[in-house]
Amino acid sequence: MAETAKPEILVASGIYPATLQTLDRTYPTHHLWEAADRAALLRILRDRVRAIVTNGGAGASAELIGALPRAEIIACFGVGVDAIDLGAARARNIAVTNTPDVLTDDVADLAIGLIIGSARRIAEGDRFVRAGRWLAGGLALGTRLRGTRLGIVGLGRIGMATARRAEAFGMTIAYHGPRHKSSVRYPYVGDLQSLARDSDVLVLTLPGGAGTKHLVDAGVLAALGAKGTLVNVSRGSVVDEAALVTALLNGSLGAAALDVFQDEPNVPRALLSMDNVLLQPHQASATHGTRAAMGQLVLDNLAAHFASRPLLTPVV
Ligand code: 8YV
Repeated sequence: MAETAKPEILVASGIYPATLQTLDRTYPTHHLWEAADRAALLRILRDRVRAIVTNGGAGASAELIGALPRAEIIACFGVGVDAIDLGAARARNIAVTNTPDVLTDDVADLAIGLIIGSARRIAEGDRFVRAGRWLAGGLALGTRLRGTRLGIVGLGRIGMATARRAEAFGMTIAYHGPRHKSSVRYPYVGDLQSLARDSDVLVLTLPGGAGTKHLVDAGVLAALGAKGTLVNVSRGSVVDEAALVTALLNGSLGAAALDVFQDEPNVPRALLSMDNVLLQPHQASATHGTRAAMGQLVLDNLAAHFASRPLLTPVV
C-alpha cells in the first residue's frame, strides 16, 4: 500500500528554535523568511503547501493565503492574530489556531515589570550607577505602587492576570473594554478617556487589529496626563505612536513603558534618549518555558488537524 505523503508546511517566520526543529523533523517544511526569492518559492510551492506556520508579527496576509490555494490551516505561534487576514482565511474555510493561556502569566509578569520598572526608575537607576553619577548624588525619587490607580484596557486573560498581580502590590484597579463583565468585581469604565483621566497608570492588554487601531489617541494620552504612565504589552497599532512621541516630548504625558511598537523593530528615535521611557524588544512571552509551550501548541494543533481531530485552540 502506498504511504500517504506527509503534508508540506510553509513556515512564514522564525519561531522558537526547538519547535522549528521538531517541525522540520516531522513534516517537509519550507522556510519562507530565509528564502532569497520569496515569490519564486511561493510559486514552486503553490499546489503543495497544506499548512502555514507563522508568528504574531508576520501573520499571514491575504496575498500569502491567496498564493497557497491548498492551505487548510494557519497555526500562529502567538496569541495575537491581528496580522493574519482572518477574512481571507474564513473565505477559504482555512482553520486558524493561536497560542492563548500558555503565555498569559509571562505577559502579565512583564506588564508588572514595566509598571514597577517605570515607577521605580529601575533601568534609569542602572544607567545612573554605570555612568558613575551616584558618586555625585542620589537618583530622583520614584513613585510608590501602593495606592496607584491602574486602568486596564482589555480585561481578557492577560488583563485579568495583570490585575491580580497589581492587587498584590496594593494598586487599585478599574478597566475599559468593549463591554462590562458581570463576573468581574473591578469597576468598569465605558469611556476610555475617563478611565485615563482617573488612572495613574494605563496598561494596554487588548488585542490589536483594525478594530482597536489608534484607540489610544492624543485625547486619551492628554487625559492620562503629565503625571500618568502608559504601559503597552499588546500591539503597537493600538497607540497613535506619533501622538505618543509628541505627548512625551511636550510633557503632557508623564512616562511610558513599551514592549511593542508600530513598526518593529524600529522604535521612534525620539524615545531612545528619554529617561522617562522604558523600552523592551517585544519580549513579553519570551521565556524558554513559555516559548516551548507555545511551540507545543502549534505542533499539537497541526497534528490534530491532520488527524481530523478537533483543534486545541482554534481562533473563532
Ligand atoms: C510573540 C505575541 O512575540 O503572542 C503574541 O501575540 O506578540 C508574542 O507572544 C510572537 O508571536 C512570537 O514571535
